[in-house]
Amino acid sequence: MSSPPDQQRPLDPAVIDAAIRALRGGGLVALPTETVYGLGADASRPEAVARIFAAKGRPKRHPVIVHLGDLDGLTGWVAEISPQARALADAFWPGPMTLILPKGPLAHDGVTGGRPTVGVRVPGHPLTLAILKAFGGGVAAPSANRFGRLSPTTADHVRTELGERVDLVVDGGPCDVGVESTIIELTGPKARVLRPGHISPEAIAAVLGEAPEAGPVVTSGHVGEAPGTLRSHYAPRAPVFVVDTLPLDALSAAPGPVAVYGLNPQPAQIPSTVHWLQAPDEAEAYTRRLYADLRRLDDLQVSAIWVERPPAGPRWQAVHDRLYRASAPR
Ligand code: TXA
Ligand code: MG
Repeated sequence: MSSPPDQQRPLDPAVIDAAIRALRGGGLVALPTETVYGLGADASRPEAVARIFAAKGRPKRHPVIVHLGDLDGLTGWVAEISPQARALADAFWPGPMTLILPKGPLAHDGVTGGRPTVGVRVPGHPLTLAILKAFGGGVAAPSANRFGRLSPTTADHVRTELGERVDLVVDGGPCDVGVESTIIELTGPKARVLRPGHISPEAIAAVLGEAPEAGPVVTSGHVGEAPGTLRSHYAPRAPVFVVDTLPLDALSAAPGPVAVYGLNPQPAQIPSTVHWLQAPDEAEAYTRRLYADLRRLDDLQVSAIWVERPPAGPRWQAVHDRLYRASAPR
């Protein structure tokens, strides 16, 4: 994956130092990753991890991903690295993949939520990777949003969302992927995708030699067991409706402003109460912009956001998953 220019900036040692000092002091540091921004704390300190939950307003006992600088960093956090795990790590790390593995002795209940497993990931953003390597330990980090809201893909989103609750926001530019990592559970005989992301089932199958099991399903109404795969997740304030055909008459008749995230060309005649934002028609660009665009529309104080349903196909899977969750009844 190519990095946008922002992610090719030279790494500023002062920023890396400040992040490490804050982490060592038990503070909260918002970190850029290639997927979304994370809200990080020293994973080895339960009281620092507890501050993440307080800042997010997230229910306790939700597990958090432990971020590490390299594969060696997993030692102690996981019980063992199976051949399957190693193959996936070699293929996709640093990158937008989280592995759920049997936990090791370092993985306390604050990061596992009391489960026998732990989520681990070596993220691909150069600045955060440099911070993790210099820090030397694990950094627990969920997405840096308030619980149930859209994940942030810029440093400004984090500041708006969490403000004074964070000790330091590391600005690494806009996120390249735009949605959270692919989560792969490797605790049984077969790999299982718990959350779709940039790394597709096809890419996983190419590494493992067999297709992973499907995790929580995207559009059928069934939601799997992974905590945080609650259907009503990743949601703007305004209700979201995903439709094949926009009900243009109804939109025109709405009493207040409404938003459209459109894929088809904007009709020549739309009322001034309809805020139309054109979505990219290519999957990677759409994924990168989705959260930022939904935020932008939400900020217009619209009464609803109407989204024209993107095409089917494996490259759109993560987008369908997030739109499905964003449009969940609350
Ligand atoms: O891309 C990402 O994964 C971002 C960046 C910051 O790395 N992080 C992220 O974290 O999305 P979060 O906490 O918002 O989502 C992590 C998901 C949650 O649904 C959590 O329940 C699940 O991973 N998870 C973590 N550890 C788990 C475990 N041991 N078993 C099952 N699910 C787990
Ligand atoms: Mg999250």
